[in-house]
Amino acid sequence: MVELEVEKHVRYILAVGKNKDDFESQVMDHLRMNGAYWGLTTLDILQKLDIVDPNEVVEWVLQRQHDCGGFGGNVGHDPHILYTLSAVQVLALFGKLDVLDIERVSEYVSRLLNGDGSFSGDMWGEVDTRFSYCAICCLAILDRLDEIHVDKAVNYIASCKNLDGGFGCTPGAESHAGQIFCCVGALAITGFLHHVDKDLLGWWLCERQVKSGGLNGRPEKLPDVCYSWWVLSSLIIIDRVHWIDKDKLAKFILNCQDKENGGISDRPDDAVDVFHTYFGVAGLSLLGYLGLKAIDPAFALPVYVVNRIFFGR
Ligand code: FPP
Ligand code: ZN
Repeated sequence: MVELEVEKHVRYILAVGKNKDDFESQVMDHLRMNGAYWGLTTLDILQKLDIVDPNEVVEWVLQRQHDCGGFGGNVGHDPHILYTLSAVQVLALFGKLDVLDIERVSEYVSRLLNGDGSFSGDMWGEVDTRFSYCAICCLAILDRLDEIHVDKAVNYIASCKNLDGGFGCTPGAESHAGQIFCCVGALAITGFLHHVDKDLLGWWLCERQVKSGGLNGRPEKLPDVCYSWWVLSSLIIIDRVHWIDKDKLAKFILNCQDKENGGISDRPDDAVDVFHTYFGVAGLSLLGYLGLKAIDPAFALPVYVVNRIFFGR
């Protein structure tokens, strides 16, 4: 069995964090808050977060906060719920949520809730169940879910359920594994999983596994390492993970490693990036790969971090 190249992946992530001039850093400039979440969470799962100086990270994150309470992807970029969740998750990783003005952040998030229970991503109003997940996950971490009409938000998510058991980005939109993670994750966090038809959805999700062992996001699509997260986390939440071949999936992920320079790609022999490195390592953690910290399938944070948030330990 191919092994996980822990040291090389750690070196790769640290290099991506430092190098501001290479191609990946240039195209990811507006996504750096997400990149920080992907990279730092990966380091933590690999048991290497102590390489990073927490104070430096806290300062870096807070520099990207706006007066409204929301966070931008980078300095000079507008606030958005996607980056606000990443910022909160990064602070949670380091046990530093107390540096936040929690009222201000939760007010920013709550104001994105629309009358029909959907969430906009920012002030420009695009609606997507991705943003429902981000808002609900963020408010739950901040212990401020009581600031929104959770029933309304949940009913909107339920209205995005399709006849195949899956969920889309808006009512009537086709089922997509990424959106399914968002909807199932948000329903798990709020305690409304009874809206999910577990057998029907489990069937759709396990059909995402292709011959190579990898998972795709929709019928007829190529397998992609990031779906090891979107599909697998959903299967675990609905208790149907035994419906796929876990060993074959682990092999597929391990075959997507750059064994020389570190990092994981979407498919074998493609170029690596920090996004797929995170989803590969997180996927292996969900599969119980030895030596990795366990990750929570709904909060997308290490289990010990989730326990510290909710039980103070
Ligand atoms: C597929 O993206 C993925 C999604 C639609 C879900 C995205 C979810 C979030 C951003 C919420 C935050 C997530 C975490 C883990 C905390 P894609 O554009 O790559 O889809 P494609 O494969 O169809 O191109
Ligand atoms: Zn991908």
